[in-house]
Amino acid sequence: MTEGNNPNASNPASPRSSNHVYIFDTTLRDGEQSPGASMNLEEKIRIASVLEEMGIDIIEAGFPIASNGDFEAVREVARVVKNSTVCGLARAGRADIDRAWEALQGAARPRIHTFIATSPLHMKYKLQMQPEDVHKAVIASVSHARNLCPDVEWSCEDGSRSEHDFLCRTVESAIKAGARTINIPDTVGYTVPEEYAALIRMLFDRVPNIDRAVISVHCHNDLGLAVANSLAAVGAGARQVECTVNGLGERAGNCSMEEVVMALKTRHDRMPFDTGIKTEYIMRASRLVSQVTGFAVQNNKAIVGANAFAHESGIHQDGMLKHSGTYEIMTPESVGLIKSNLVMGKHSGRNAFRTKLKELGFELGDNALNDVFHRFKALADRKKEVFDEDLVALVDDTVQHEAERIKFVALQVVAGSKGPQSADLELQVDGVTKTVKTEGNGPVDAIFNGIRALVPNEARLQLYQVHAVTGGTDAQAEVTVRLEEGGKTVNGQGADPDTLVASARAYIHALNKLLTKREKTAPAALSA
Ligand code: KIV
Ligand code: ZN
Repeated sequence: MTEGNNPNASNPASPRSSNHVYIFDTTLRDGEQSPGASMNLEEKIRIASVLEEMGIDIIEAGFPIASNGDFEAVREVARVVKNSTVCGLARAGRADIDRAWEALQGAARPRIHTFIATSPLHMKYKLQMQPEDVHKAVIASVSHARNLCPDVEWSCEDGSRSEHDFLCRTVESAIKAGARTINIPDTVGYTVPEEYAALIRMLFDRVPNIDRAVISVHCHNDLGLAVANSLAAVGAGARQVECTVNGLGERAGNCSMEEVVMALKTRHDRMPFDTGIKTEYIMRASRLVSQVTGFAVQNNKAIVGANAFAHESGIHQDGMLKHSGTYEIMTPESVGLIKSNLVMGKHSGRNAFRTKLKELGFELGDNALNDVFHRFKALADRKKEVFDEDLVALVDDTVQHEAERIKFVALQVVAGSKGPQSADLELQVDGVTKTVKTEGNGPVDAIFNGIRALVPNEARLQLYQVHAVTGGTDAQAEVTVRLEEGGKTVNGQGADPDTLVASARAYIHALNKLLTKREKTAPAALSA
């Protein structure tokens, strides 16, 4: 463990004098608050494990009092993650804080993050509290949290729109009550870099005990300024940045982790600060979060977009051939886009395949490796070139379909302009083979009708999305299906060179997730 990812041990007398910027990832909490971006427990643990491996200092795993699912997620992430601090969010009340602490019991490095709004607008309309009462709540909540946990972070929600005198008083009191990290959120993405940096400097100038805490920033992206605001705040003395993978989050999202980390790394000449992030894990984290949530990354997204390192125009390609620095300010390898010498094709053997997966960051058990290997061979028979992206999609698809109650077996579809379109579908439901032939308004509708006929359910389809894993007409399709039932939302994914097979797999995956959610309350028979 470096000094970098252990704020408990290294909270120095003056954190501002250190050049280390702590990276606090809130993909699992603020990111999940994005409508439709729900993740199940197993997915949260997969994401947390990648975040830990990449050296994220603090992982905010959820808001334990919000739901039993959130509580479980924080508890499991806390149990599994050992090197990063694991944090649970709590409002200013004792019940919230106690619940967060309960969820964090298994953590090697627990942190309670408690917050209350401090802007006039939020205090008056949302909290309906007088500022004096908010001030008392700050002291009471931080003191209570600190009695439970040595590492307490306090956030003044809507901090960037709070009155300076009141902000200074509450920050000073929170530090006195024991907060080691003070977070100043730009909750509504309203501030601009100069103003935000001035706010952070103002706090350093006016709060007498400020050097006893790490100052943190948490920026939303409503004006597209979250990364710029966070970097400006670091320049002004902030030493923790709160962010999410792919910038996922409420409304326009949060500060993007990969952008802020790569900006600090690439422009170290202008911003001489260090993070402990192993940036080669960035693509893996980005892909995993996108795949789990069904939130596609736009092609021209900085750092992780499909075009971020692509050079199309002749002039650019010519420049790149002469010297890559002409049009590339960072290498693709530095964010985990590996150029491998190991090209996979239908003659590749199991050992080469295992080595290749290892290069891509996957270490599978024997059974999972066998399954993926067979699917790879089938794919290599159908597709001229098997790209790294194809293998990642195959692994993700195989691993997530492993222990499902409903399994895809076979599909035959009649499509085209001379209707009716129909689907002959074969599934295995709890080990029993079932078949059905259904019609629909198009082949996808026919398939989904077939699945509903074999596994009756009331789930509403909220999203159906197709994404090509690579270029070319023989590319694999990666389909996301979002289903909602009784207020619960799940995302399912399926990958296959046949878009319709991928669609069936994605719907079945989502349905399996709903069943798991249902089983937690009452296990039920599945068959029609
Ligand atoms: O945006 C915000 O203010 C938050 C706080 C809870 C930190 O997410
Ligand atoms: Zn937020």
